[in-house]
Amino acid sequence: MSIGHCYEVYDHLLANAARLHDAKWLAEFLQPHCRYRRLGWRGSRLRIVQHPAEFAPFLIFMAAQRVRSYLEIGTSTGGSFFFADSYLRATVPDFERSVGCDRTSKLRDWDEYRARFERIEFRHVGSQDLSLAGETYDLAFIDARHLERWVLHDYEKVKPHCRFVAFHDIVLTNASVDKAWQRIKSRHARHWEFIETAIPPECRCGIGVVEINPAADAAAAR
Ligand SMILES: C[S@@+](CC[C@H](N)C(=O)[O-])C[C@H]1O[C@@H](n2cnc3c(N)ncnc32)[C@H](O)[C@@H]1O
Repeated sequence: MSIGHCYEVYDHLLANAARLHDAKWLAEFLQPHCRYRRLGWRGSRLRIVQHPAEFAPFLIFMAAQRVRSYLEIGTSTGGSFFFADSYLRATVPDFERSVGCDRTSKLRDWDEYRARFERIEFRHVGSQDLSLAGETYDLAFIDARHLERWVLHDYEKVKPHCRFVAFHDIVLTNASVDKAWQRIKSRHARHWEFIETAIPPECRCGIGVVEINPAADAAAAR
Protein backbone atom coordinates (compact mmCIF):
# COMPACT_ATOMS: atom_id res chain seq x y z
CA MET A 1 0.00 0.00 0.00
CA SER A 2 1.41 3.39 -0.88
CA ILE A 3 0.24 6.73 0.46
CA GLY A 4 -0.41 9.30 -2.24
CA HIS A 5 -2.20 11.98 -0.23
CA CYS A 6 -2.23 13.34 3.31
CA TYR A 7 -5.84 12.31 3.91
CA GLU A 8 -4.92 8.63 3.33
CA VAL A 9 -2.41 8.47 6.20
CA TYR A 10 -5.13 7.75 8.75
CA ASP A 11 -6.28 4.60 6.88
CA HIS A 12 -2.74 3.28 6.70
CA LEU A 13 -2.20 3.92 10.40
CA LEU A 14 -5.44 2.14 11.33
CA ALA A 15 -4.43 -0.81 9.17
CA ASN A 16 -1.32 -1.08 11.36
CA ALA A 17 -2.99 -0.28 14.69
CA ALA A 18 -0.99 -2.89 16.63
CA ARG A 19 2.33 -1.26 15.67
CA LEU A 20 1.62 2.41 16.22
CA HIS A 21 3.57 2.54 19.51
CA ASP A 22 6.60 0.77 18.06
CA ALA A 23 9.14 3.55 17.43
CA LYS A 24 11.25 1.50 15.00
CA TRP A 25 8.25 0.51 12.91
CA LEU A 26 6.83 4.03 12.96
CA ALA A 27 10.17 5.57 11.90
CA GLU A 28 10.37 3.13 8.97
CA PHE A 29 6.78 3.96 8.03
CA LEU A 30 7.57 7.69 8.11
CA GLN A 31 10.94 7.63 6.33
CA PRO A 32 9.80 7.57 2.65
CA HIS A 33 7.63 10.61 3.37
CA CYS A 34 10.30 12.70 5.08
CA ARG A 35 12.13 15.42 3.22
CA TYR A 36 15.61 15.99 4.52
CA ARG A 37 18.14 17.51 2.18
CA ARG A 38 21.17 16.90 4.39
CA LEU A 39 20.60 13.16 4.01
CA GLY A 40 19.52 13.42 0.37
CA TRP A 41 15.88 12.52 1.09
CA ARG A 42 13.36 14.14 -1.23
CA GLY A 43 10.32 12.69 0.53
CA SER A 44 6.91 11.94 -0.90
CA ARG A 45 4.02 14.29 -1.60
CA LEU A 46 3.44 14.29 2.16
CA ARG A 47 6.74 16.19 2.51
CA ILE A 48 7.25 15.80 6.26
CA VAL A 49 10.20 18.02 7.18
CA GLN A 50 11.29 15.90 10.13
CA HIS A 51 13.79 13.15 10.83
CA PRO A 52 11.72 9.96 11.25
CA ALA A 53 13.83 8.63 14.14
CA GLU A 54 13.04 11.85 16.05
CA PHE A 55 9.46 12.41 14.93
CA ALA A 56 8.37 8.80 15.66
CA PRO A 57 9.20 8.86 19.40
CA PHE A 58 7.72 12.36 19.63
CA LEU A 59 4.43 11.08 18.20
CA ILE A 60 4.49 8.13 20.60
CA PHE A 61 5.16 10.55 23.46
CA MET A 62 2.09 12.58 22.46
CA ALA A 63 -0.06 9.46 22.39
CA ALA A 64 1.25 8.39 25.81
CA GLN A 65 0.41 11.83 27.20
CA ARG A 66 -3.06 11.60 25.67
CA VAL A 67 -2.73 14.75 23.59
CA ARG A 68 -6.32 15.47 22.59
CA SER A 69 -5.75 18.95 21.21
CA TYR A 70 -2.73 19.84 19.05
CA LEU A 71 -1.47 23.22 17.86
CA GLU A 72 1.30 23.56 15.27
CA ILE A 73 3.03 26.86 14.52
CA GLY A 74 4.75 26.59 11.13
CA THR A 75 2.83 24.01 9.10
CA SER A 76 4.41 24.68 5.68
CA THR A 77 2.83 22.21 3.21
CA GLY A 78 1.33 20.24 6.10
CA GLY A 79 3.64 17.24 6.41
CA SER A 80 4.06 17.14 10.18
CA PHE A 81 0.65 18.76 10.79
CA PHE A 82 -1.42 16.21 8.88
CA PHE A 83 0.66 13.28 10.05
CA ALA A 84 0.41 14.29 13.73
CA ASP A 85 -3.33 14.91 13.37
CA SER A 86 -3.91 11.50 11.76
CA TYR A 87 -1.64 9.74 14.23
CA LEU A 88 -3.41 11.28 17.24
CA ARG A 89 -6.84 10.43 15.78
CA ALA A 90 -5.64 6.83 15.40
CA THR A 91 -4.09 6.50 18.87
CA VAL A 92 -5.93 8.80 21.29
CA PRO A 93 -9.54 7.62 21.64
CA ASP A 94 -10.93 10.95 22.79
CA PHE A 95 -8.85 13.10 20.46
CA GLU A 96 -10.61 16.42 19.84
CA ARG A 97 -8.93 18.81 17.43
CA SER A 98 -5.91 20.26 15.68
CA VAL A 99 -5.11 23.84 14.75
CA GLY A 100 -2.28 24.78 12.42
CA CYS A 101 -0.90 28.21 11.65
CA ASP A 102 1.56 29.54 9.08
CA ARG A 103 2.34 32.94 7.61
CA THR A 104 2.09 31.28 4.18
CA SER A 105 -0.88 29.28 2.93
CA LYS A 106 0.42 26.21 1.15
CA LEU A 107 -1.14 23.14 2.76
CA ARG A 108 -1.38 20.29 0.27
CA ASP A 109 -4.78 18.56 -0.13
CA TRP A 110 -6.24 20.84 2.55
CA ASP A 111 -9.81 20.82 1.19
CA GLU A 112 -9.86 17.04 0.94
CA TYR A 113 -8.32 16.58 4.38
CA ARG A 114 -10.76 18.99 6.03
CA ALA A 115 -13.73 17.43 4.23
CA ARG A 116 -12.82 14.07 5.69
CA PHE A 117 -11.84 14.97 9.26
CA GLU A 118 -13.78 17.03 11.73
CA ARG A 119 -12.38 19.73 13.93
CA ILE A 120 -9.21 20.64 12.13
CA GLU A 121 -8.45 24.26 11.43
CA PHE A 122 -5.78 26.22 9.57
CA ARG A 123 -5.06 29.87 10.34
CA HIS A 124 -3.22 31.77 7.65
CA VAL A 125 -1.43 34.14 9.99
CA GLY A 126 2.04 34.83 11.33
CA SER A 127 2.59 33.84 14.94
CA GLN A 128 2.92 37.52 15.91
CA ASP A 129 -0.73 38.03 14.93
CA LEU A 130 -2.06 34.70 16.16
CA SER A 131 -4.73 35.09 18.83
CA LEU A 132 -5.27 32.21 21.25
CA ALA A 133 -7.62 34.03 23.63
CA GLY A 134 -9.86 31.56 25.45
CA GLU A 135 -8.21 28.51 23.84
CA THR A 136 -6.36 25.62 25.43
CA TYR A 137 -4.27 22.86 23.89
CA ASP A 138 -2.62 19.79 25.29
CA LEU A 139 0.48 20.40 23.17
CA ALA A 140 1.84 23.08 20.85
CA PHE A 141 4.61 22.20 18.37
CA ILE A 142 6.72 25.20 17.34
CA ASP A 143 8.46 24.82 13.97
CA ALA A 144 8.31 28.30 12.48
CA ARG A 145 11.08 30.91 12.42
CA HIS A 146 14.29 29.28 13.61
CA LEU A 147 15.81 32.30 15.35
CA GLU A 148 16.24 32.44 19.10
CA ARG A 149 14.09 35.53 19.58
CA TRP A 150 11.27 34.14 17.43
CA VAL A 151 11.31 30.78 19.19
CA LEU A 152 11.09 32.62 22.51
CA HIS A 153 8.29 34.78 21.10
CA ASP A 154 6.29 31.75 19.95
CA TYR A 155 6.90 29.94 23.24
CA GLU A 156 5.66 32.93 25.28
CA LYS A 157 2.60 33.15 23.06
CA VAL A 158 1.51 29.51 23.41
CA LYS A 159 2.72 28.78 26.96
CA PRO A 160 -0.34 30.12 28.85
CA HIS A 161 -2.57 27.92 26.71
CA CYS A 162 -0.76 24.57 26.80
CA ARG A 163 0.12 21.57 28.92
CA PHE A 164 3.23 20.85 26.82
CA VAL A 165 5.26 22.95 24.37
CA ALA A 166 7.48 21.20 21.81
CA PHE A 167 10.22 22.62 19.58
CA HIS A 168 11.76 21.36 16.36
CA ASP A 169 15.45 21.73 15.47
CA ILE A 170 16.79 22.07 19.00
CA VAL A 171 20.26 20.91 17.87
CA LEU A 172 20.25 22.03 14.23
CA THR A 173 23.37 23.85 13.16
CA ASN A 174 22.99 27.15 11.24
CA ALA A 175 20.03 28.21 13.40
CA SER A 176 19.62 29.47 16.94
CA VAL A 177 16.77 27.31 18.19
CA ASP A 178 19.38 25.59 20.39
CA LYS A 179 19.99 28.80 22.34
CA ALA A 180 16.27 29.29 22.94
CA TRP A 181 15.89 25.64 23.90
CA GLN A 182 18.67 25.84 26.52
CA ARG A 183 16.97 28.84 28.11
CA ILE A 184 13.48 27.38 27.96
CA LYS A 185 14.28 23.92 29.28
CA SER A 186 16.11 25.41 32.28
CA ARG A 187 12.82 27.05 33.35
CA HIS A 188 10.84 23.82 33.60
CA ALA A 189 10.87 20.93 36.03
CA ARG A 190 10.34 18.34 33.30
CA HIS A 191 11.59 18.14 29.73
CA TRP A 192 12.20 15.49 27.07
CA GLU A 193 14.56 15.41 24.08
CA PHE A 194 14.22 13.25 20.98
CA ILE A 195 17.53 13.36 19.10
CA GLU A 196 18.74 10.78 16.58
CA THR A 197 22.30 9.92 17.65
CA ALA A 198 22.91 7.31 14.91
CA ILE A 199 23.59 10.03 12.32
CA PRO A 200 26.40 12.63 12.26
CA PRO A 201 25.79 15.56 14.64
CA GLU A 202 25.52 18.01 11.73
CA CYS A 203 22.56 16.00 10.37
CA ARG A 204 20.53 15.99 13.59
CA CYS A 205 17.50 18.21 14.12
CA GLY A 206 16.16 17.24 17.55
CA ILE A 207 12.76 17.72 19.10
CA GLY A 208 12.46 19.07 22.64
CA VAL A 209 9.37 19.15 24.85
CA VAL A 210 8.72 20.96 28.13
CA GLU A 211 5.82 20.42 30.49
CA ILE A 212 4.09 23.62 31.59
CA ASN A 213 3.45 23.12 35.28
CA PRO A 214 3.71 26.48 37.09
CA ALA A 215 3.88 24.98 40.61
CA ALA A 216 6.53 22.38 39.75
CA ASP A 217 8.46 24.85 37.60
CA ALA A 218 8.54 27.42 40.45
CA ALA A 219 9.67 24.79 42.95
CA ALA A 220 12.42 23.59 40.58
CA ALA A 221 13.64 27.18 40.15
CA ARG A 222 14.14 27.66 43.92
C1 LIG B 1 10.41 24.26 8.47
S1 LIG B 1 8.87 24.80 7.88
C2 LIG B 1 7.72 23.79 8.80
C3 LIG B 1 7.78 22.34 8.42
C4 LIG B 1 6.65 21.49 8.94
N1 LIG B 1 6.40 21.71 10.37
C5 LIG B 1 6.94 20.03 8.71
O1 LIG B 1 7.68 19.43 9.49
O2 LIG B 1 6.42 19.46 7.73
C6 LIG B 1 8.69 26.37 8.65
C7 LIG B 1 7.41 27.11 8.32
O3 LIG B 1 7.27 28.16 9.27
C8 LIG B 1 6.62 29.25 8.65
N2 LIG B 1 6.87 30.45 9.45
C9 LIG B 1 8.02 31.16 9.58
N3 LIG B 1 7.85 32.17 10.45
C10 LIG B 1 6.57 32.10 10.88
C11 LIG B 1 5.80 32.85 11.79
N4 LIG B 1 6.32 33.89 12.47
N5 LIG B 1 4.51 32.50 12.01
C12 LIG B 1 3.98 31.44 11.35
N6 LIG B 1 4.65 30.69 10.47
C13 LIG B 1 5.94 31.00 10.25
C14 LIG B 1 7.20 29.27 7.23
O4 LIG B 1 6.31 29.93 6.35
C15 LIG B 1 7.36 27.76 6.95
O5 LIG B 1 6.25 27.28 6.23
